Amino acid sequence: MSDKYPSDSGRRRFVKGVVGSAALSGVGVGGAATVNLATQPAGGGGGPTEFVGIQLQGGPAPRGMPYIPIEIEDNGDIRGVWPEAEEVTEDGVTFLQAEQEVGGRTYSTEWFQYCGRQQSEGIQPDADKDNYFRSVAPDDARHDWQAEQLDGGDTLNVEHFSDYETWGNEFGRDGVGKPAKATWRSDDVPEDEIVPVTVIRSTLIEEKAQRDDEVGQWYSAASSRGVIAYMNVCTHFCCVPGYKFSESAAQFDIADGVYCQCHQSQYDPFTPEFDTFVSLPRPD
Ligand code: FES
Repeated sequence: MSDKYPSDSGRRRFVKGVVGSAALSGVGVGGAATVNLATQPAGGGGGPTEFVGIQLQGGPAPRGMPYIPIEIEDNGDIRGVWPEAEEVTEDGVTFLQAEQEVGGRTYSTEWFQYCGRQQSEGIQPDADKDNYFRSVAPDDARHDWQAEQLDGGDTLNVEHFSDYETWGNEFGRDGVGKPAKATWRSDDVPEDEIVPVTVIRSTLIEEKAQRDDEVGQWYSAASSRGVIAYMNVCTHFCCVPGYKFSESAAQFDIADGVYCQCHQSQYDPFTPEFDTFVSLPRPD
């Protein structure tokens, strides 16, 4: 049983995902800049979508990057939540939708339908995946600890982050949060369909999950033991940003946050952004 399901809290009830496995890392391109705001997509979901993401702090990106609510199993393995898919009909069009309530918000798999990821096999609502976060290969890791301790495809476990209260590198302050670069729902898919994610464990998240406001409500449901995850695809032009990874981040006062090296967008992974965007339709 996951530690996310205290018996006294009905609102933390998640629908568990189904079975599969995972893969490597990648950068995708596509669609975010070509959304037609006047068009309600037909046939594959999409359209105006409320989401929760890591907060945009500055730069040309239009919004934050979407969180992935997580759960931690008894053995410490970490995986993302994927709602159960169901058929819905709107305006005479029938399509699959997967959404559920998380922390007072409607969590939908449409959160990930931008930058070409709406084409990814793993982002289709009924795709049969196991939802575990899997480490990238050592050559793709952005932090020494991960390159030294994990092989590509290893399932991330909360024990990998056991020194999160003190971990640091040459960028920013120590003890802010320990990251890992991973993939999600991306087993056996072409490189341009891989879903890149970042998983971070932080005392800041543990503290904020205790708050008696919408921030606390979100983190108490979407995180566990200080662990968060987000899809690491910049909402500007789809690059894969870095957390505590770039010397240049300090120039933008984001040395302890997420910095996109392509056009200098900055994100705070420890502050939620409650926002709306136009998600793209999935292919029929
Ligand atoms: S700031 Fe342009 S792709 Fe990230």
